Amino acid sequence: MSTATSASPSAAEANFARGLEGVIAGETNICSVEQGKLIYRGFEIHDLAEHATFEEVAFLLLEGHKPSADELRRFKIEVIAERALPAEVIAFLKSCGPMIKSGAAVPMDIVRTAVSILGNLDKDAQDNSPAANLRKAKRLLAKIPTIIGHMQNVIDGRAIIAPDTGGDATLSHAANLLYLMSGEKPSKEFEHVIDVSLILYAEHDYNASTFTSRVIAGTLSDMHGAVTGGIAALKGPLHGGANEMAMEMLKEIMRDVGEKGIGTPAVDSWMQNAFDTKRKLMGFGHRVYKNGDHRAPILHKLGRSLASKDTRNPGGHAAAKWFDLGEQVQKIMLDKKKIHPNVDFPCGLTYFTLGIPVPQYTPIFVASRVSGWCAHIMEQHANNRIIRPLSLYRGPAETKWNK
Ligand code: SDX
Repeated sequence: MSTATSASPSAAEANFARGLEGVIAGETNICSVEQGKLIYRGFEIHDLAEHATFEEVAFLLLEGHKPSADELRRFKIEVIAERALPAEVIAFLKSCGPMIKSGAAVPMDIVRTAVSILGNLDKDAQDNSPAANLRKAKRLLAKIPTIIGHMQNVIDGRAIIAPDTGGDATLSHAANLLYLMSGEKPSKEFEHVIDVSLILYAEHDYNASTFTSRVIAGTLSDMHGAVTGGIAALKGPLHGGANEMAMEMLKEIMRDVGEKGIGTPAVDSWMQNAFDTKRKLMGFGHRVYKNGDHRAPILHKLGRSLASKDTRNPGGHAAAKWFDLGEQVQKIMLDKKKIHPNVDFPCGLTYFTLGIPVPQYTPIFVASRVSGWCAHIMEQHANNRIIRPLSLYRGPAETKWNK
């Protein structure tokens, strides 16, 4: 027996969409995700990837329009001034080494907890007004790269880089993120590739983590709580966590077939075994994009070009070999399953080429998507109706407790 509250059983069954597939759950001025185009506030993703910087895109998402030169200058100064972390958060990050070493916590959990502590220290924490929300959004945008950088320093067993300033004020948002993690100032090409990846990851309408943030904001809870929820949702391997899992999958294939196996039927049989065992192949498929993710080819091209010039051996293989393997896997997925890669597949390959530790891939996704989450949280607070869908009851029929 199945009934739904306030709907007749047959109407309920007809309206039921598992995983809310195809359901329009709200309105937004921020982003449109269609098979035809991906648009952020009227600007198409290829246009943004080619002509904008991440700072300009973050401003666009948070303020609602393309920044003038003066607005961008002031925005950058404001964000740079907020990069440093409070002592309490640095103390927590200094303690996170054993939590990660024991396997109890992964970097995404550390980011989630650090953002929660930031909320407990933010003087605007309980103020959901547009002005306070915008101040908090900029502080989160500024501080999450610092959380990632300081955490990586602790994992590497080295002193925390630039704890007083949160990095080097002469570096862009993207370059400073890499600098904070490694202590090395990135090349212009490395800076450009990571900057474009942040643009591509910044926003994607009602995806699982953004919808989570909107549900939390919809109860009039605060921005830090809504962002914390978004981080928890993004961690999942079916969502943001796929960029790490995609790279781990490629490392597994490389281990199994060896470098000489790339381009040979050994990879085809590895994939066939994965199909036979109904394995989810990370970095592939999408709820909305059935003919390909607009973002994937953009990042793949950039990452491939970087890898072809890079002769370093991260993980023991020349970076270009990983793209050879990735392209063979992509071809098999398309030929055999008609499933395209999503943005997480080229992201894994590209971040590996940049030498970024795999467990920091999804935290970097957070550093970018926090701009989209905060835009949606502000939009929800500004025109709110609590989000409360129905469910189909499939439990036991009514009976008496004291028969
Ligand atoms: C992101 O929503 C967004 O916008 C998300 C995102 C963003 O920017 O916010 O784009 C970021 O999360 C991208 C997705 C990253 N996740 C992965 O790469 C994980 C692997 N992908 C799958 O789990 C899956 O494709 C999803 C989760 C992405 C989509 O889930 P759907 O819509 O439920 O999948 P579907 O209906 O298209 O799949 C139908 C069938 C599947 O049936 P089930 O097993 O789910 O019952 O197609 C097969 C499978 O049989 N299939 C896959 C597959 N994806 C679909 N088989 C193997 N590997 C896959 N990756």
